[in-house]
Amino acid sequence: MNKIEKYFLQQNQLKFSSIVCSSHNKKIILKNPKKLESKKENKDINKMKEIHNEELKKIYSEIEKCMKCEALCNSRLNVVFGRGDEEPDIVFVGEAPGADEDKQGLPFVGRGGKLLDKWIEQLGINNKKYYIMNALKCRPPENRDPLPEEKSNCRDYFVTQLKILNPKIICALGRHGFGNLIDFDLKTPFGKARNKVHYYNNNGKDVPVIATYHPAYILRNQKEEQKVIDDLNFMLSELEKINNV
Ligand code: URA
Repeated sequence: MNKIEKYFLQQNQLKFSSIVCSSHNKKIILKNPKKLESKKENKDINKMKEIHNEELKKIYSEIEKCMKCEALCNSRLNVVFGRGDEEPDIVFVGEAPGADEDKQGLPFVGRGGKLLDKWIEQLGINNKKYYIMNALKCRPPENRDPLPEEKSNCRDYFVTQLKILNPKIICALGRHGFGNLIDFDLKTPFGKARNKVHYYNNNGKDVPVIATYHPAYILRNQKEEQKVIDDLNFMLSELEKINNV
């Protein structure tokens, strides 16, 4: 590398993974670090999207072809199935994918998802077996609330997915996720569902359901974050009781 080329690199303050200098035409071929990063991100996304369980694979391929909701299947980029351990102790249930999730085909990967990941790490849930999924598998346009008929169209997929996952405990994130598990009037203040153990019948067993706020709500109301931490600790103490039986 000659002086000019060295100067150019220093000025740009970039770390190039590979620099090829040709002595005839002085052409420098630089690999763009941003592109390398996004290649790695794509690899990580693909890894997180891998489905190993054959029964889960089967319903995923049904959902990919699903055309039950005209508005949703015409506008979706990806169906959003789930991520995490396929034999989980804990399943988190959200509402429906947003724009980031629709793009990546994975649940909770946007700003709300980052907050959820932070709680999971902070409370050591990342050392346990957990899975994240939504009530709806497709993004409602403009992030509007899912319509009742969309929820009911998606319900069989949701029920089958939970049956296969067979968790010990479920944590509902927000009223729509909760309302898909427990008969709950959506007009009731959601706070009333907290601090109680509810039950969802899965595979003939009553599985405890703990309700907490949706990460998107906490992004808008940061002073409520401690309530979610309390709810998640409550959920962990209920899980411990189950594990000790
Ligand atoms: N909100 C949800 O309820 N689910 C997601 O996957 C993303 C945002």
